[in-house]
Amino acid sequence: MLQAFRRKSIAEPDVESEQSLKRVLGAGDLIMLAIGAVIGAGIFGAIGTAAAGQVGPDGVVIRFGAGPALVFSFLLLGGACALAALCYAELASMIPQAGSAYAYAYATLGELVAWIIGWDLILEYAVGNVAVAISWGDYFGTLMRGIGVVLPPWLTTGYRTALLSSDPAVHGLLAHAPHIGSVPILVNVPASAIVLLITWVLMLGAKESVRANNIMVVVKLVALALFIGVGITHLRPEFYRPFAPNGFKGIHQGAAIVFFAYIGFDAISTAAEETRNPNRNLPIGILVGLAVCTLIYILVGVVLTGMVPYQSLGVADPLAFALQSAGFHTVGWIVALGAAVSMSAVLLVFQYGQPRIFFSMARDGLLPPWAARLHPTRRIPSSTTLLTGILVAAASLVGDAAETYDLTNIGTLFAFAIVCIGVPVLRVVEPERFRPFRVPFVWPVAILGTLACVFIMAGLPMQAWVRFGGWLLIGLFLYLVYGRRHSRLRSTATG
Ligand code: ALA
Repeated sequence: MLQAFRRKSIAEPDVESEQSLKRVLGAGDLIMLAIGAVIGAGIFGAIGTAAAGQVGPDGVVIRFGAGPALVFSFLLLGGACALAALCYAELASMIPQAGSAYAYAYATLGELVAWIIGWDLILEYAVGNVAVAISWGDYFGTLMRGIGVVLPPWLTTGYRTALLSSDPAVHGLLAHAPHIGSVPILVNVPASAIVLLITWVLMLGAKESVRANNIMVVVKLVALALFIGVGITHLRPEFYRPFAPNGFKGIHQGAAIVFFAYIGFDAISTAAEETRNPNRNLPIGILVGLAVCTLIYILVGVVLTGMVPYQSLGVADPLAFALQSAGFHTVGWIVALGAAVSMSAVLLVFQYGQPRIFFSMARDGLLPPWAARLHPTRRIPSSTTLLTGILVAAASLVGDAAETYDLTNIGTLFAFAIVCIGVPVLRVVEPERFRPFRVPFVWPVAILGTLACVFIMAGLPMQAWVRFGGWLLIGLFLYLVYGRRHSRLRSTATG
């Protein structure tokens, strides 16, 4: 039993050199990776639901919207994420290994918590990418319609989306789509196809992937600048009244879904082992990336809710919708193109992160050894890259964005909370260890960071909590039947 609480020593050489990853990334690459991971489906898609709220097919309110007070949701999230980001920065610079929060938990809170976090991070990376891919598919549909191509809805709508929609046209697809026997064929082909394409890019190698990311980041910044620049000419003061239609409840529940827009600054910590001078470059990448994104979100939130009534924003492509409603059809189309490119960058970074977490866990013996194998020449974890691609593509074919946002958010907030707890724990158990980056005022920052994450989690619907609990139980079961027995730490201890 004590085995489950054994911590992996940070100083312990992890692997033989041929099993470590190639160090090719600098601070600039990391900032670009952070922006690449952060700005995506959250700001282009989930922001609409956060402002307008959500109603189920039975007419019951699932969550209240923030309305124009969305700007407060962003401020709340920016503060919470900054606290968590500081904690990430300390651990990432001290423990520069692939695996992110998983590796930090192993060094601070022991094997069982590490396993749980590794398992939990699947919700952030792989499940998160399902939501991003679906949102990508929505913007792809907008782009196609803009050039007069209308794809059949049964080939662009996942089964879960039709099942959960309160829009009669979408829900009606359950009856009107082609059927095989009694099963309606409702598949999101564009969402699935983009995941497979990104997986192929990643198989080419890390440096090549970063180059592709840098180009996509420039496109996303231009798209958002265009949205802000054009949208600001069409603000209507009456749309800001009432400013907070659902009071603090709306701001809180809006924050809980649009938290998705902030996820990703931590993803670059999974690149720690491929970073040159990680002690300096990782904290810079994380904190600068987060600051830039928060500023952009506040501007987008203010402009969006001033362009159209917030109640109308519960659509899949709110930014393009707002521009088109205001009569800017061409700009709306260009922003939709920027959105699709932005989300491709998010997909890339997350499809990059997930296999490295699997790799890290397999290298520690908690997953089967084939998952720790590297490509002989490219030195990337090719088998887990491929596996992640296939699983995410399959789930994107039938999944729904809103329910995956919720699951991803709760899982990620949990990981953030554990990271916040891990920092002071490690300060106590290993006070002498060299910390290239130290969290200032560590106790208040770590405690407030943990509480802020739990508070945002509390804004998610009960269903998300139930599913999250189920996911953790499955993970615990797998640890007991596999990870606990095959752990390298255990064999080192007993062998
Ligand atoms: N923050 C990322 C996005 O919004 C996950 O797409």
